[in-house]
Amino acid sequence: MKENTSVSPLAGRSIVSFDDLTLDDIQTIFETADAISADRQAYFGKASGKIVATLFYEPSTRTRLSFEAAMQRLGGGVISTSDVKNSSVVKGESLADTVRVVGAYGDVIVIRHPLDGAAKLAAEYSPVPVINAGDGGHEHPTQTLCDLYTLREHHGTLKGLNVALCGDLQHGRTVHSLAFALARFGANIIFVPGDGNEIPAYVLRRLERNYHAHIRRERLGTLSALFDESASGDESATVNAIYITPSEPHQLAMSSIEGTTVEFRVGYGESLSLYVTRRQTERGSAMPTGGRYPALNAKSLRGSQFKNISILHPLPRIDELSPDVDNDPRSLYFRQAAIGIPIRMSLLWHVLGLGDETAVVSKQPYTQEVLGLLYSHSGFDCSNETCVTNQERLFASPQFEVVMNGDYKLRCLHCDRETDGTYAGNIESRFYYPSELLDRFLPPVSPEHVRFFASPEDAESAGFKRASDKWDSYQSRPNDNGKHWVDMVSGRTQ
Ligand code: NCD
Repeated sequence: MKENTSVSPLAGRSIVSFDDLTLDDIQTIFETADAISADRQAYFGKASGKIVATLFYEPSTRTRLSFEAAMQRLGGGVISTSDVKNSSVVKGESLADTVRVVGAYGDVIVIRHPLDGAAKLAAEYSPVPVINAGDGGHEHPTQTLCDLYTLREHHGTLKGLNVALCGDLQHGRTVHSLAFALARFGANIIFVPGDGNEIPAYVLRRLERNYHAHIRRERLGTLSALFDESASGDESATVNAIYITPSEPHQLAMSSIEGTTVEFRVGYGESLSLYVTRRQTERGSAMPTGGRYPALNAKSLRGSQFKNISILHPLPRIDELSPDVDNDPRSLYFRQAAIGIPIRMSLLWHVLGLGDETAVVSKQPYTQEVLGLLYSHSGFDCSNETCVTNQERLFASPQFEVVMNGDYKLRCLHCDRETDGTYAGNIESRFYYPSELLDRFLPPVSPEHVRFFASPEDAESAGFKRASDKWDSYQSRPNDNGKHWVDMVSGRTQ
């Protein structure tokens, strides 16, 4: 047990997004999970005197019970509000107050919450590390650790692996965290959404911006077998998008070209994994009339093209994964759920710094790496109604990253969603104008002087006056140095 000798780099850290974990962290978590699987008894008692608090504002079977079992298998204690209806939340207590109180009782908080960004808010206020066990439709990083471990164990490597993420890609938090992880590990991602459940634009943009993934549409090809027969003959059926990392061989290596249309095919020697998910009805997911949803059963997987696939599902399943494949050796979903024990034991081991019994582990402040310019001024709200910043207004301070995506947008650091920053005002002149004009002013307006607004009404209620029409003529004036304002302020070249 080499971990006994030193305190982990993960000690005291909160895990809110999958991006909070470096590749080294992931490797370390997997190595300890292996060591735990090899000799679980050796770890018993190591968390003696420590307590995990599981704060679940949404139902859970696997995640909560595996975290609690993991802590008990380390010899630690568990306190839990599995049903927040029995807590002061029903009296209107805020999340910020709840975690400050619970953080005084436990050494680490594992939280599941219906609001996007809730885990980040909790990590900001909690005196102890916070682990995100699912925040709304946003992220579920510890499920991703289980998914990656299972994939790696079965396929040997993630690099170059084709993973079809199927089902409710819009609301599926497991899908979002897994997509970011797969992009980092150089896997190819194929999105196969149910009708009306396409992958959100903000996820696509994060894949492009942060991981330099390439996107393109393809026809379903091999994957049309996931839809019922009437649909599989549909020539217009398309896979929503495919991502490849730049280090990978070009996508054509795994696709055949028919005419001008590229169709998804798994090439010789390549592996495919089907990651199936249920429709997240509790998040308002609805199927349009006549809509289709990808589903698996023994019959649909009969073809020789599926000989070497793996089948994963974060569970629970409803009707998108037939029990008639449960005993199929390609089905890994019960293994994927079982691996939750060594993975979560490993995570608790590291976050609690159990490798060094003498070390005093205190919570590290929660920070996120942001590529571009940070923006945080009152008067600009995230447009996502289920973002924690719109529900916990007393405590959440909305923070954004300025991103250029056709127009200026502000990406919420809590929920990731982008809100249009259609108008910009200069606090020196107190004039506002369409934010695209920011690119025309020479010298550029200093970032500290810029305030963004979603509408003219917002700008005017903040005391800004509409700039005269003559300012619009700036739109035709080319920017001499060819740089966008946002590139200038973030120090990036275009
Ligand atoms: C998932 C979740 O809660 O997001 N379940 C899990 O943690 N294994 C998937 C789901 O509920 O569909």
